[in-house]
Amino acid sequence: MMLGFLLICLTTSTLATETPIIGIISQNIPLALDHFSPGGTFIASSYVKWIESAGGRVVPLVLGSSQNFTELLESVNGILIAGGRSNIENSTYSRLVTQIFEYAKAANDDGDYFPIWATCLGFEFITLASTADKIRHLARCDAWDQHLPLNLLEDWKESRLFKKADNDILNILTTMNVTSNFHMYCLTMDNFTRFKMDEFYIPLSTNIDKNGLEYITSVEAKNYPFYGTHFHPEKASFEIGYTRPNIPHTREAILANGHFAQFFIEEAKRSKHRFNSREIEEKSLIYSYDSQIYTGQIGVDFLYQQVYVFPV
Ligand SMILES: *[C@@H]1O[C@H](CO)[C@@H](O)[C@H](O)[C@H]1NC(C)=O
Ligand SMILES: *[C@@H]1O[C@H](CO)[C@@H](O)[C@H](O)[C@H]1NC(C)=O
Ligand SMILES: *[C@@H]1O[C@H](CO)[C@@H](O)[C@H](O)[C@H]1NC(C)=O
Ligand SMILES: *[C@@H]1O[C@H](CO)[C@@H](O)[C@H](O)[C@H]1NC(C)=O
Repeated sequence: MMLGFLLICLTTSTLATETPIIGIISQNIPLALDHFSPGGTFIASSYVKWIESAGGRVVPLVLGSSQNFTELLESVNGILIAGGRSNIENSTYSRLVTQIFEYAKAANDDGDYFPIWATCLGFEFITLASTADKIRHLARCDAWDQHLPLNLLEDWKESRLFKKADNDILNILTTMNVTSNFHMYCLTMDNFTRFKMDEFYIPLSTNIDKNGLEYITSVEAKNYPFYGTHFHPEKASFEIGYTRPNIPHTREAILANGHFAQFFIEEAKRSKHRFNSREIEEKSLIYSYDSQIYTGQIGVDFLYQQVYVFPV
């Protein structure tokens, strides 16, 4: 009894909060949805639900808004950089994600644990952010609507992202078609090393595109709690509808993709950040935004089933 109690104390002692809040950065609304909020920005709801599925809550960081980003960064426990179509080299979006990435680096350098999860476009951004020239070094490829098992690289065994995953989850991830790729550009091992991304990140898995090109599908930073996947772990559970019929929704796909959300939320629980008041926290949470729309329905048929839109 005593020993069990002691062990629980020790293993939970690194957690700073049981109720982490994650900031998700919005992107310019795509043309197909512009009429819902002309010139505004959006966040696909699947990312919000994915965070919530693991016990996190979400605060939108609304691109172009008058929110105080400095204050919000000091209040949230981690950042999710979502997928999408934004320009990641030279745009208002790229400047905001760069500012947030640099903030996260500086915070961690100061001993302030502050994790980042990056999916698809986010993966492209965080790998670009580690290069000297800050431009995209991706090969044209066809990994659109590809649902694959991961080819884990040797370093996975020492990785934070995979080493503690249950065996049944690793088994699913490496043998079943459960990771969903939706991209037409790929990060090859050639460019990863040529542009010295290997100084910042460890590649953990690869896949092969429809034309036989090998591309990197997951990374973790060597010295920072930063993680990225080119595949979409949020889609198995939260993008279900007519527009993307090939996304796997098997029990195994949902279980294995949940690993990434759970892993990230455990990382965020180590962050000591908190809102200055309950009032500011409530005003900031996505619960206070009543702007979610059904975009998978007939007539709209957008690739995301639901999105939050934010006016300019
Ligand atoms: C934003 O928040 C920071 C940190 O709380 C504060 O120092 C700064 O004055 C705020 N900026 C504005 C424009 O309110
Ligand atoms: C960035 O974009 C702006 C506006 O589109 C353009 O004027 C500028 O030349 C670009 N800068 C670089 C370095 O590409
Ligand atoms: C490397 O990146 C460049 C862009 O900088 C791209 O044109 C090229 O196809 C990439 N090559 C490989 C092998 O990934
Ligand atoms: C998994 O995907 C690959 C490539 O698309 C396909 O060849 C294979 O048959 C799929 N396996 C299963 C079990 O569906």
